[in-house]
Amino acid sequence: MKKIAVLTSGGDAPGMNACIRAVVRGAIYYEAEVYGIYQGYAGLINNEIERMNSFSVSNILQRGGTILKSSRSEEFRTKEGRQKAYENLQNLGITGMVVIGGDGSFTGAKIFYEEYGLPIIGVPGTIDNDIYGTDKTIGFDTAVNTTLDAIDKIRDTADSHGRIFFVEVMGRDSGYIAIQSAIGGGAESVILPEKEATTQEVIEHLRDGLRRDKSFSIVVVAEKDTPGYAVQLAREVGEAITKKDIRVIVLGHIQRGGAPTSTDRTLASRLGLAAVEGLIDGHKNKMVGVINDKIVFTPLEDAIGKDKPLNPELLRAMKILSL
Ligand code: F6P
Repeated sequence: MKKIAVLTSGGDAPGMNACIRAVVRGAIYYEAEVYGIYQGYAGLINNEIERMNSFSVSNILQRGGTILKSSRSEEFRTKEGRQKAYENLQNLGITGMVVIGGDGSFTGAKIFYEEYGLPIIGVPGTIDNDIYGTDKTIGFDTAVNTTLDAIDKIRDTADSHGRIFFVEVMGRDSGYIAIQSAIGGGAESVILPEKEATTQEVIEHLRDGLRRDKSFSIVVVAEKDTPGYAVQLAREVGEAITKKDIRVIVLGHIQRGGAPTSTDRTLASRLGLAAVEGLIDGHKNKMVGVINDKIVFTPLEDAIGKDKPLNPELLRAMKILSL
């Protein structure tokens, strides 16, 4: 009898619930027992594990957040923490685990597999879309739709008052949300972690727009390491461009909430089921993703270690269309 456990870890992402549902129902379809681990790796260490059935995941497909809750566990970084986690799984006779999360969660999964050999499949669940081995991560599409909804509203008021707005979006190390929000939101400029732009460049670009009688402008800024970075940038730009009113919006965690889009629901459902099928087929220490609409398994090592650079075509489109 197979016994599969599932947890969500790291920053939550819309669609995680749809994925949990797919893991649970997929496991039941294959006549495996399925267990939900609460609070990510922290709950695994504290033995917060419950048997799940088909009804445990009723009516969650459309909900944001994660019914299993999530955490960034410091204790799982220690050997002692991982030992406790393994003992809890062993006591229940768990034969495989599905970890829904981002690169930090996969790093933990890889170390755990190397130490104890428990088969693990990672499912990419993060709004950042910064994981190699999948075209899109669960939550990214919803997050971008949330930023676009906000930018559309900001445009209305920016237009009425002829102002420059700096809109900060999430993405600590990755500019996927920023570039897609900038293109979809018709921004004049985008500041990305991957492509260092100087304040002077932003100023020149905005001045150029003003010379061509642009009445208002949107600048999308990826948060980088410091949430609130857009505030600092706006202040510096404001000292140079004095004849325009400048305002800043930090969208923050609003991007992590809300009902998943159809794209995220489908992606999450496919990946959750594929993770279970992967475990049953004997895959281990891998992440499941979708590339060119096909399910693909990638070693966790590559999913964590390899870069997924921004599509240069998007950067080019942004430059041309923001003229
Ligand atoms: O990794 C997802 C993410 O939303 C990043 O975009 C962001 O920088 C970070 O999580 C925020 O983390 P926390 O929820 O711990 O503030």
